[in-house]
Amino acid sequence: MSGFSADWLALREPYDVRARNPKVLDAVAASFKGYPSLRIVDLACGTGSTLRALGPRLTALQNWRLADNDLSLLARATAMIRPAGLTVEGVPLDLNRDLEAVLDGPVDLVATSALLDLVSGVWLERLAVEIAARAIPLYAALSYDGRVEIGPADPLDAVIISAVNAHQRTNKGFGPALGPAAGSAAIKQFEKLDYSVVHGASDWVIGEGEHDIQMEIISGWASAAREIGDLSLPDTAAWLTRRRDLVSNGRSSIRVGHVDVFARPMGKRWVDRSQSNSTSSPS
Ligand SMILES: C[S@@+](CC[C@H](N)C(=O)[O-])C[C@H]1O[C@@H](n2cnc3c(N)ncnc32)[C@H](O)[C@@H]1O
Repeated sequence: MSGFSADWLALREPYDVRARNPKVLDAVAASFKGYPSLRIVDLACGTGSTLRALGPRLTALQNWRLADNDLSLLARATAMIRPAGLTVEGVPLDLNRDLEAVLDGPVDLVATSALLDLVSGVWLERLAVEIAARAIPLYAALSYDGRVEIGPADPLDAVIISAVNAHQRTNKGFGPALGPAAGSAAIKQFEKLDYSVVHGASDWVIGEGEHDIQMEIISGWASAAREIGDLSLPDTAAWLTRRRDLVSNGRSSIRVGHVDVFARPMGKRWVDRSQSNSTSSPS
């Protein structure tokens, strides 16, 4: 499975759903309580997992603008079955080049999942400035934060995870990626912009019986470690074999650290539309 394949996104989605931080989700929902309708932009939507996770917690009428540069994922996202009152619009675009275009027009919330660890500090600042200039809140879920626990321990785990974290910082199309620093950088950035920020852990907690995702994760880690090159090919292969055996024998468990963030403009900058008379349907 490749990095953003539909198969990989489908495999990880139940773990993402389980991991999403409930305090952060509640804060998002509470912010929009009473709104007659909502216009949401989902950056790097993939097949639409953010909509599936967040949509049911929000007000009935929603319009989602789904943006991604992968046309096949975008087609899946826009083809999904939707409840009444929810409309979606697919926006094929490269967020590195055309971020501003997708934020144009009325937007109540910018949402994203598993994107911020791919972007550079420069791009994150650009996003923060664009969002703050429009006084829009941001819900950014599931940014990898570098914490990994694997059981039972293997002598090469530490060097593999250190290589994975180095790989996380390589360019993913937005310049040198923030990788594990993304969540804390986003929190700092929005606090500096006078936003109120709620954040919390959203770790994948993967148990001994959950083989398929563990197999994918450790294969991905071995490939990343090879690309970084700190470990020899035989050592990497031996590590992968040992870990695969543990997974197959139902003896392996993995925890992968993530962070969820909800950042909302404070005070007068927050335009509360909950008392608005507008009952217009989303466009
Ligand atoms: C890890 S996936 C997350 C997908 C989805 N948000 C989810 O949580 O399942 C990262 C997504 O970013 C998209 N992506 C990566 N680089 C992009 C870019 N430059 N412009 C737009 N989308 C991009 C990929 O196509 C993929 O859908």
